[in-house]
Amino acid sequence: MIRTTRSCSSRLRPSRLAGLALGAALLLTLAAGCRSDSGSGDSTIRVGVALYTQDDTFISAVAQELERLAREAEGGAGDLKINLSVADGRSNQTTQMDQIDQFISRGCDVLCINIVDRTAAAVLIDKAEEAGVPVIFFNRQPVAEDIRRWEQIYYVGARAEEGGALQGQLVLEAWRSGRERWDRNGDGVVQYAMLEGEPGHQDALLRTEYSVKALTDAGLAVEKLASDTANWNRGQAEAKMKQWLEEFGEEIEVVFSNNDDMALGAIDAIREAGLALPLVVGVDATAPALEAVAAGTLQGTVLNDAQGIAGAMLELALALSSGRDPAEVVALEDGHYVWLPYRQITRETLEPSESLPLPSRTKN
Ligand code: GAL
Ligand code: CA
Repeated sequence: MIRTTRSCSSRLRPSRLAGLALGAALLLTLAAGCRSDSGSGDSTIRVGVALYTQDDTFISAVAQELERLAREAEGGAGDLKINLSVADGRSNQTTQMDQIDQFISRGCDVLCINIVDRTAAAVLIDKAEEAGVPVIFFNRQPVAEDIRRWEQIYYVGARAEEGGALQGQLVLEAWRSGRERWDRNGDGVVQYAMLEGEPGHQDALLRTEYSVKALTDAGLAVEKLASDTANWNRGQAEAKMKQWLEEFGEEIEVVFSNNDDMALGAIDAIREAGLALPLVVGVDATAPALEAVAAGTLQGTVLNDAQGIAGAMLELALALSSGRDPAEVVALEDGHYVWLPYRQITRETLEPSESLPLPSRTKN
């Protein structure tokens, strides 16, 4: 469903947006725009939300949650109105910069920014400061030096190291309890392949490092057979895995994937090749990944809390736009950071609400 009246940004063309494949139902509320037209005394909060791309499963989930929680907050609080304007940066920093200029010039109260290029935050922060508009970055973490540029800058996200370590522990536990199954060549060494997210992304760099570290810290010997980026993308991961299977076949015992979409791409390739599934793990806990965990094809995943991230951003946005101290509504670290915990998910720990009804439960 797309509701459009007037947009914060003239660059958001509803017809184009309608054509985008956003998965289920990403709500784009291009409501009355950032400008407060309704005269004085209204309690309308105008939030500009800039996404690095809408063509990303996890980011779409965060945007959807933000929309849902905003509607819920409106329902619970008298005449409060929250206008969310969502812009798709289409993985282009110049495009996103234009969208942010528009948000600012049209009078947004707060900006929520999922920055395309993590290293480009300084320019953007200076613009926001000049206009006096607080910024909440999320998911794609600017460097600490940039975050400290102005006191009205915040970051909401999860600690990448923690996600990696939890993923590594999932593998460690499965390996220890099912050594005969996973250690295919029986040498006691974990022969693995690593599917990495976007180069330079904190979650790609640190999940890659800390997932393997969890094994080596526990004294397990590892051997990297293959490692490359598939840019968070299922199709790219499938293609990459296909190549690796040609080279290594069933020698690959574990597939670490920096996110679920790529883990599912790897599983696609392995099934396509008609080979037995190795131990595959992801991160995010997207709906299709939870289905795969329930079906036993994905060994486990690590919940990247889309709902928690959206909730913290909304709380912050409401506090900032009404002049309240943000520390009263969220747990702020170093005056700028809100950290959401990751959580491991396996078939055993799947909560009933997470295990979606499946026509049949298959074992690999
Ligand atoms: C990561 C997430 C990925 C992708 C990326 C985008 O946290 O695990 O699936 O959404 O953020 O920045
Ligand atoms: Ca082995």
